[in-house]
Amino acid sequence: MSQDDCVAGDPGGGVGAWRDRSLHELIAHIVATHHAGLRAALHELQAAAAPPARPGLAGDARWRRTGARLLQQFRTETENHLRKEEAVLFPLIEQLERSAHAGQPAPRHPFGTLGTLITVMEQDHELTRRQLQQLAALLHEPLGVDDEIRQATRRVLADIEQDMVLHTQLEDDVLFPRTVGLESS
Ligand SMILES: [Fe+2]
Ligand SMILES: [Fe+2]
Repeated sequence: MSQDDCVAGDPGGGVGAWRDRSLHELIAHIVATHHAGLRAALHELQAAAAPPARPGLAGDARWRRTGARLLQQFRTETENHLRKEEAVLFPLIEQLERSAHAGQPAPRHPFGTLGTLITVMEQDHELTRRQLQQLAALLHEPLGVDDEIRQATRRVLADIEQDMVLHTQLEDDVLFPRTVGLESS
């Protein structure tokens, strides 16, 4: 097992157990488990929603214009969110934690505090929740979509929704508040 596997290990005990682990460990866990899983699920979602046309299961032009397009938009925006966390926010949180351990003051940033970036991420989470609700509602509309496509898309969406609950709890209820607390201490 690599070192990354070790730090990404889930301590068990749900969200609360992560309050006692380092932010570095929590971030490694979020990226390895929730981000990797979500990227795979988004790929699966698009494949389910817009499979290649085949005889007898051609899908409906209206579905392809509306549903498949909305799902593509959801995928793009969600992937952008993951990239912002991994490329910008998470490395800055780890830098903050290292500084705190070294007894140094919180690093200063031209954009202000990490709390500013965190507010943007929290807004993204809210948007994601709304988009998932809209997509679920859309799949109940009479768009003429094949039942096979509808069921497969619903299944993947439900998996995404379920994992998203824990993913956002780990960020909104543990990682982000602990970061804000560390930065202001
Ligand atoms: Fe995330
Ligand atoms: Fe997030």
